Amino acid sequence: MTDVLLKLEQVSYRYPDGTNALSGCSLVIRQGKRTVVLGANGAGKTTMFLHLNGILRPSAGQVFYGGVPLDYSRSGIRELRSRIGLVFQNPDSQLFSASVREDVSFGPMNLGLEKRIVGERVAAALHAVRMTECADKPVHNLSYGQKKRVCIAGVLAMQPGLIVLDEPMSGLDAAMQRELLAVLERLHADGMTVVIATHDLDFAYEWADDAIVLQKGKLLAQGTAAVLLQQTEVQAELGASPVIADIAASLALTGMAVRDKGYLPRSRRELLAAISAFHRQESDR
Ligand SMILES: Nc1ncnc2c1ncn2[C@@H]1O[C@H](COP(=O)(O)OP(=O)(O)O)[C@@H](O)[C@H]1O
Ligand SMILES: [Mg+2]
Repeated sequence: MTDVLLKLEQVSYRYPDGTNALSGCSLVIRQGKRTVVLGANGAGKTTMFLHLNGILRPSAGQVFYGGVPLDYSRSGIRELRSRIGLVFQNPDSQLFSASVREDVSFGPMNLGLEKRIVGERVAAALHAVRMTECADKPVHNLSYGQKKRVCIAGVLAMQPGLIVLDEPMSGLDAAMQRELLAVLERLHADGMTVVIATHDLDFAYEWADDAIVLQKGKLLAQGTAAVLLQQTEVQAELGASPVIADIAASLALTGMAVRDKGYLPRSRRELLAAISAFHRQESDR
């Protein structure tokens, strides 16, 4: 594959207490794609993410960015962090400044950018997550969803090419999830590579280009999300299946042609459109 942005090659990681969180894990993340990382609790998703921007260093194996092994020197890590933005699951472990603006400024300031440039980046990042109004609010007064968006703004202010989000939808209500998704869609449309760890298979099926499935610190499967999520082995490991895939498959069994040029509907909207199209065709006969 020519468009590989990040690659893990036989990465193992053992925590100081002796837990083997990753064992010979190999996978790739493709440039410009939307990738979901799936796996049961404890499968190693978070540990894998911490390897992508050099917070953790493999006990064995290697991580490559653009075909080059990661450089764990101080300057190497600094450069890596400006290219790969990691949004933690819990916003409280990411935010530490008094005000929103201060927090979002921290990364670009550390890059040694001019004050004016920092200001511009912070304004753009806050605008991207629709948090401009809250720029001067104390971080501790924000709602959970707002904190999440400030974390994303902090990462965007670094202008990374890849954004990695660890279970970003957890703890958000449906409206906030939609809003966050809209933010991610805009970033992806602007060319950003987006990687998300999630337990929501319906979301994964509808949204992702690629999927990575981890099992006990190893890669179980990797490939086109819509294809992988229909595989029995993957569904068994995840203990669930996307509801739209199930409905489309069972309608297809009844002879209803929901498949359009070999493509099964992936969202509620596509499924309903396919069913209406089928009924129109039937009544035209
Ligand atoms: N700081 C830590 N110290 C020791 N073990 C840890 C630590 N963090 C995670 N683990 C263990 O590593 C394994 C993988 O965890 P994690 O990467 O958090 O999985 P996931 O994000 O898929 O739930 C689990 O067995 C977990 O208990
Ligand atoms: Mg995790």
